[in-house]
Amino acid sequence: MPFRKSLSHRRINPTDRIPHAQPSVYALPISVNFNKPFSKQWARFSALLILAAVINMTLLLSTTHAEEPITIRFSHAVANKTPKGQMAIKFRDLVAQRLPGRVKVKIYPRSLMYQDSNVGAAIAEGKVELAAPALSKLRQFTPKLQLFDLPFLFPNMEAVERFQNSMEGQALLYSMEQRGIVGLGYLHNGMKQLSGNYPIRTPTDIAGKTYRIMTSDVLKAQFEAVNATPVAKPFSQVYNLLVTGTIDGQENTWSNIYASHFYRAQSHIAETNHGLLDYMVITSPSFWNKLPVDVRETLEDCIRLAIAHGNQIAARQNQQNRTAILGSGMTKVVELTQSDREQWVNAMKPVWGRFSADIGEELIRAALVAGQGR
Ligand code: SIN
Repeated sequence: MPFRKSLSHRRINPTDRIPHAQPSVYALPISVNFNKPFSKQWARFSALLILAAVINMTLLLSTTHAEEPITIRFSHAVANKTPKGQMAIKFRDLVAQRLPGRVKVKIYPRSLMYQDSNVGAAIAEGKVELAAPALSKLRQFTPKLQLFDLPFLFPNMEAVERFQNSMEGQALLYSMEQRGIVGLGYLHNGMKQLSGNYPIRTPTDIAGKTYRIMTSDVLKAQFEAVNATPVAKPFSQVYNLLVTGTIDGQENTWSNIYASHFYRAQSHIAETNHGLLDYMVITSPSFWNKLPVDVRETLEDCIRLAIAHGNQIAARQNQQNRTAILGSGMTKVVELTQSDREQWVNAMKPVWGRFSADIGEELIRAALVAGQGR
């Protein structure tokens, strides 16, 4: 069954609804003897009718009360205090207010339930109902989403927002439908920075170093392009890998670097803004389409509001966490000059050519248009 797209163009088939408590209809053993005086028969008939109504109402109410709320398990990889963690909490609270007793949201942060790399499969198999993995981690379901990993594609978050709201960006939400996954919206984190235990200013500074990446061919190619060695590892392991020196460095946003304490294990962070870390809030079409229409519409509204809340926090928190990292005195933040930046662009941007056919030239063009403010 195709996923029902956003409210305005949704096709609703009432027979798809999950049945709620059905009012029971009981045949009462009433027989009326027309030889008896009318008033007696009528009194008996009315009493039986009232009794039937009371029984019916009681059964209906008890069935309704006995109905279990729909549980939505929301699995994600980061701390509650991150933009994504806050989005999940906002969603849970909105659902509690607007669908009390009907839907319950349980959040599993910090990869307690699934790593981001396998949460997509868990969604498709119905083992969890909601997740918001990094877009990089959805490559296994469609090559098109590799677009978001191309280094230096988006100049800023406004360009990202414009592209995601474009026709091409919105179509990507449905690009994994055949694989049992559908996007309910994009959620921002922000631009990534590069860290290491050595001064970093130009690409040669990280040559020969080992860098943790999310599982992504584009990110692999990006680090190989500057002669570093990429290693795909789950987010939950990054801090330990840094502390033990198993990896030399990592790339992430200010909010993740701060919330997961990476800055405490790294002496330098270069403010490269070289790539994007954004998420897609995903569910399974078979779960979503079977929700009662009113519940589904309310949940979609809650998701929209929670994403807007998360996006606001993302912009604010990345700035605040950058300031906190600077103020911590534990790591040095290196601001790049125009010429430093050009060296990164020149080294990394050629990887686009290797992925453009896989991603689709028209998508890259649409992202570039969004980057130009159109
Ligand atoms: C996340 O923000 O969900 C994790 C990103 C990462 O794996 O680096």
